[in-house]
Amino acid sequence: MGAAIPDSVVTTARAGAVLVVTVDNPPVNALGVAVRQGLAAAMAAAQADASVAAVLLVGAGKAFIAGADIREFGKPAMPPSLPEVCRSIEDSPKPVVAVLHGAALGGGLEVAMSAHYRVALPAAKLGLPEVTLGLLPGSGGTQRAPRLMGVKAATELMLSGKHLGAKAAQQAGLVDRLAEGADPVAAGLAYANELLAQNAPVRRTRDIAIADPAAALADLELLKAETAKKTRGLFSPLKIIECVQAAVQLPFDEGMARERALFVECLDSPQRAGLVHAFFAEREVAKVPEAKAAAPRAFASIAVIGGGTMGAGITVSALDAGYPVTMVERDAASIARGRANVEKVYTGLVAKGRMTEEAKAAVLARYTGSTSYDDLKDVDLVIEAVFEDLEVKKAVFQELDRVCKPGAVLATNTSYLDIDAIAAATSRPQDVIGLHFFSPANIMKLLEIVVPAKVSADVVATAFELAKKLKKVPVRAGVCDGFIGNRILAVYKQAADYLMEDGASPYEIDEAVRGFGFAMGPFQVTDLAGGDIGWATRKRRAATRDPKARYVQVADRICERGWFGQKTQRGFYLYPQGARVGQPDPEVLAIVDAERQRAGVVPRPFTADDIMRRYMAAMVNEGANVVHEGIALRPLDVDVTFISGYGFPRFRGGPMKWADTVGLPKVLADIEEFAKEDALFWKPSPLLVKLVQEGRNFDSLNRAA
Ligand code: 3HC
Ligand code: NAI
Repeated sequence: MGAAIPDSVVTTARAGAVLVVTVDNPPVNALGVAVRQGLAAAMAAAQADASVAAVLLVGAGKAFIAGADIREFGKPAMPPSLPEVCRSIEDSPKPVVAVLHGAALGGGLEVAMSAHYRVALPAAKLGLPEVTLGLLPGSGGTQRAPRLMGVKAATELMLSGKHLGAKAAQQAGLVDRLAEGADPVAAGLAYANELLAQNAPVRRTRDIAIADPAAALADLELLKAETAKKTRGLFSPLKIIECVQAAVQLPFDEGMARERALFVECLDSPQRAGLVHAFFAEREVAKVPEAKAAAPRAFASIAVIGGGTMGAGITVSALDAGYPVTMVERDAASIARGRANVEKVYTGLVAKGRMTEEAKAAVLARYTGSTSYDDLKDVDLVIEAVFEDLEVKKAVFQELDRVCKPGAVLATNTSYLDIDAIAAATSRPQDVIGLHFFSPANIMKLLEIVVPAKVSADVVATAFELAKKLKKVPVRAGVCDGFIGNRILAVYKQAADYLMEDGASPYEIDEAVRGFGFAMGPFQVTDLAGGDIGWATRKRRAATRDPKARYVQVADRICERGWFGQKTQRGFYLYPQGARVGQPDPEVLAIVDAERQRAGVVPRPFTADDIMRRYMAAMVNEGANVVHEGIALRPLDVDVTFISGYGFPRFRGGPMKWADTVGLPKVLADIEEFAKEDALFWKPSPLLVKLVQEGRNFDSLNRAA
């Protein structure tokens, strides 16, 4: 090969008659302006040089090209645009081959589809995931993918955002050839030279005719109806379908123009800003001081104490990640139940055809049940999930301190308890940390990593490493009552209770919250989780509650009747015959009325907007307190907590991002207005006040961190 041009994100080198064009823009070869310029220049150079017979496009490092540079969205556009670059590739009179050995996503796949031939290596990952960022493929993807894959398959790929492996991509028509090995240049050159030897012509995707347009349009109508139902409130999915309709109905260039117009609408939508914020925030959360300062401890085996709801879920999560797990319970009957809880998950998968009996047996072979702590002497990492009772937990940690080897990480899954106190029960507080999973622990993505005062940095780093292995989204939290998530939840739940006593029915509140984009409202969540859990917490806290604070008793009245939600077929809603979706209950409304009278409240009407203003102001204000006190490192940690653990609509980017979108002065003005009714509850967070005074938003803190 000839000499490469150094110091450029796109380099060219000759290999015989083939010009090898390498995109080298770490970490993922995103198509920033310099890459677009480099690709355009390389294509021009290929045309200008008569001795070049073909062009090979290749990515350096792990990826081919992972797409447009997401960091450029929302900034002024810089030429050349990606559609122009793609056009120059497709226009080439000399054959262009793309070799895909890693991520070829979004704009990366659009570049590849503009090439005339595509070859994929085993680790290739192809997809058009723009929808997950509130976008649509905006560089010809909506026009070229249907021509290569067929209308239905292409639309489904774009609506799902899924990645296809090399084989599946070939079956789908996205790649022409599979190659073995891990050397993309060798594989790409072999294919390019073979094509040259055959005198293979240029083959432009835009020239492929879409088969049976009438049937394709009928398919699209069906997909549209399905999508409208499934993606409630999302903007870009229906725009994707419109683009594909244009691909079927219009000549290529007009289809491209339609795609560009709709892409720009998506780009300008607040949903795009929210989803891109979520994308980066989910990557930023792992950047914590301890993980930068220390390397994780090695761990190869895990123990879980307790086999109840959480212990079993955590065990499944660890087994799924390939670890051997020892579960310890109190006695023979409890460990039998614990094992059954674990088995039930896999039996369910087998019944649904998602796992074979052999695979189930192989996973369970890594599970060991025990009633003796002495079986933990060699284990590397222990997660305690016994009853939420400080004395019980302290006793467990004393046992762990007695049996575990030096350096073993000792974690607690407590929801609220003081982890410093639990650590103090051991002789090794530097090894004790909080790992707060969410229920069901094998499904929910959020893992709050709670950092007590004395824990050492490498234990924190180990917790982040564990999260990665378990495919969880980790958020660093400080020790306080409820950490980040449950602490904020307690406050906006209270705002919901006040709204209920002041005149909104629980059903109106749930509907408003769903309308905002949550999957469920707060009263539905209470019914799902079991009203008895919150009732026990309220009783525990009754003695320390500020007697001046307003306390709504409706939930207590409901629990006193034994109505604990879905599991008792009745809570805030009725669940006749075990129904999953509740029905409004007139008796609950009567209880609410009676409580209003008892409290001397004259009910007034609230619109959905009134409800959400209060609900969100409470959430954001407590979020600001949590950041102010250093419980959360940055506002983005609060955002990720709510998106991954509390069903907050991802397209809004999280509560703090939402507040930035609305404007902090407006949120503060709302709180000050509500404070006129109840100054004790509606106390503006000092951080919110300070940011408003300085004319800053929450994101300025994310960027400063
Ligand atoms: N633009 C800018 N930065 C990107 C990026 C992109 N498209 N994709 C990834 N990155 C950054 C990440 O933010 C991260 O940065 P950091 O190290 O500073 O935190 C770094 O690259 C590595 O990313 P991951 O941690 O996610 O690495 P993984 O190896 O786990 O995953 C990946 C790699 C599968 C490529 C994953 O990053 C990914 O899914 N990226 C996004 C792909 C995508 O959505 N592409 C479509 C973009 S929109 C588009 O192309 C519009 C077009 O149609 C016009
Ligand atoms: P659970 O009641 O379902 O299970 C607790 C288990 O611990 C029981 O099986 C019990 O036999 C066992 N156990 C009690 N004492 C023990 C001991 N000394 N040694 C060994 N095993 C013992 O409770 P759940 O819901 O699983 O909660 C466990 C912990 O997880 C609690 O700290 C809880 O706050 C926390 N948590 C619960 C969540 C939930 O949604 N249920 C969510 C996140 C955390």
